[in-house]
Amino acid sequence: MDQKLSSATPGPVKQRILVWDIPVRLFHWLLAGGFLAAYYIAKFLGEESAAFPYHAMLGLTLGLMVLLRLVWGFIGTRWARFSELLIYPGELIAYFRGIFSSRGKEYTGHNPATRWTVLIMFALVLALGWTGYQTAAGGELESVHGILANILLAVSGVHVCGVVFHALRKRDGIILSMVHGHKQGDPGDAIKGSHALAGVAFLALIGFFFGSLATSFNPATGSTKWPLIGTLLLLGESEGEGYAGGANEQQESSESDGD
Ligand code: HEM
Ligand code: HEM
Repeated sequence: MDQKLSSATPGPVKQRILVWDIPVRLFHWLLAGGFLAAYYIAKFLGEESAAFPYHAMLGLTLGLMVLLRLVWGFIGTRWARFSELLIYPGELIAYFRGIFSSRGKEYTGHNPATRWTVLIMFALVLALGWTGYQTAAGGELESVHGILANILLAVSGVHVCGVVFHALRKRDGIILSMVHGHKQGDPGDAIKGSHALAGVAFLALIGFFFGSLATSFNPATGSTKWPLIGTLLLLGESEGEGYAGGANEQQESSESDGD
């Protein structure tokens, strides 16, 4: 059978190889789902809804997930590392030229276009966590927070369109690669294992963090406590009347009006 592989990359015969470890795959789908849920709660259910505190809990958990992903960028498997994520503009331009010429180089890990969007998405999630926290604490960043959320929505929309475009054009199963972790590639480029244990540790950490925020949540004050640290954390805008918690814990305990 004369099966044509890639006109641009003769090299070794490609095989199905493991590229994405379990922590990266878990991170990806939890980030995508968590972001859409946080966005939906704030935009469509609104601040008055009973679900709103979960918006902030989700947002903070997404921030923790990105911090853990950054750590994984240093200690994780080959294609999850920053050394594979950072890229020069020239390579990006060559990549876009390659898309249309069909002579483009094929990438085992993230392709150059995804690498830029990934780094931007990481920064946006962290900025959303910080501006959301500031907004809930009565700061002035609500409009910045809303704008950042819309930018992330747009960037992830571009990301999904890019991935779908790539999938249709190259038909290399890129979408499912984020599910089962495999791509077609040079066997020498495969990662050694899927690191299921690190995946379990990742789930345990973020599960503990989110669970701890949710179980300490006090609907009367609209506040919860930072896991382990125990200091007060406001989850909704504190414009005086809305939440009895207002500014700090002393105020919370002195306002013992029974409600
Ligand atoms: C149905 C929707 C989605 C699909 C099919 C999808 C698919 C993918 C695929 C195939 C990759 C790997 C790309 C590559 O090989 O270079 C990827 C990476 C990534 N996607 Fe998505 N994605 C979706 C939604 C989202 C959303 C909503 C977000 C963000 C809010 C997101 C954030 C990311 C990030 C951060 C990475 C890099 C993962 C890492 O290295 O840790 N994705 N996505
Ligand atoms: C990925 C994370 C997050 C996303 C995508 C997100 C998204 C949004 C969106 C779309 C809005 C509505 C803005 C508008 O309509 O102008 C909003 C408002 C808000 N968010 Fe977030 N947010 C995130 C994280 C957080 C966090 C971590 C907190 C608090 C700790 C928080 C607290 C708030 C507050 C207090 C508002 C104002 C609600 C209002 O006055 O209507 N958010 N957020």
